[in-house]
Amino acid sequence: MRISHLPIATKLKEMGMDVVPNLSMVENTYLGIGGTTDQILLRNYEAIPDAIRLLDSEGIKHRFLGGGSNLLVDDGELPYVVLHLPQAAPGMRVEGNVAYVEASAELGTTVTFCAKHDLGGMEGLIGVPGSIGGALRMNAGAYGTQIGTHVREVELYRASSGRLEKLQGSDIRFDYRHTSFAPEDLMLRVKLELPQKPFKEILAGIKVCNEKRRGSQPLNQKSAGCIFKNPAGGSAGRMIDELGLKGHHVGDARVSDRHANFFVNAANASCSDMLKLIDDVRERVRTAYGVELETEVIIWKN
Ligand code: EPU
Repeated sequence: MRISHLPIATKLKEMGMDVVPNLSMVENTYLGIGGTTDQILLRNYEAIPDAIRLLDSEGIKHRFLGGGSNLLVDDGELPYVVLHLPQAAPGMRVEGNVAYVEASAELGTTVTFCAKHDLGGMEGLIGVPGSIGGALRMNAGAYGTQIGTHVREVELYRASSGRLEKLQGSDIRFDYRHTSFAPEDLMLRVKLELPQKPFKEILAGIKVCNEKRRGSQPLNQKSAGCIFKNPAGGSAGRMIDELGLKGHHVGDARVSDRHANFFVNAANASCSDMLKLIDDVRERVRTAYGVELETEVIIWKN
């Protein structure tokens, strides 16, 4: 969806937003897959509700892009603009055992920033790519840690009210890779309460998680992490592996040789290749195990 040449682009600029033409999702997702569109950088949080109302009134569809780490985007010209929060400069601060973080901050940077202030509890999340906003939206988790455990307050644009709101942690449901946020909600800032721990101890925990991750996941390849959620009591990776599907591929979309629940873009995979691979593997698991796998990666179909 191209808006940079339209009068709405001028209005958005007057609201303090930047319109960036020709955003390639190949370059803005970890999978390196997806078409192109225009992007709006939401520089002025206060004006977000008005900017979204303006887009709605002009019939321009939009989607929020976080870090792009857990996202599979359709090919070709995308029928929506992408809204994105630019990285905020000061961004993070700590008061006692509470950290205030911008949703645009990287998750890994946040974990190390907190560690330097002797705040732990998020060691398991260290190698999880993506932004704080995306991590909140999905309740990112690894090695026994889920970010939701530590959330005390979230400031967000709430799609249901069309306003900026503050939600208390207790008003948000955080489940396994799922939350009570709506897909159209946009995270802006979060208050995290974290256990106090000496930096050295946190660092040791981080090292253990890094080693585990390096030993089992294809970190040097383009992927969106695990493609499927684990079914209750089971492991999607183990099932796919047991079916001998490591290396199985559709075009350049390939089941990782390292971890069978990671589907990698080996070179120039299209979204259509990846979706075919997902359907094929899902079908094989259904036939062999009677289990219906649910995707963990967020899919933006046109
Ligand atoms: N396994 C295999 N073959 C494989 C992969 C795994 O046999 O190809 C076996 C492992 O040996 C292990 C079991 O399956 O016994 C579970 O594997 P692993 O420990 O790698 O964890 P996982 O359940 O596959 C989950 C999360 C990861 C997270 C790790 C570590 C999901 C869908 N995945 O993976 O999160 O990093 O635990 O906590 O919940 C992600 O969300 O994108 C992600 C990668």
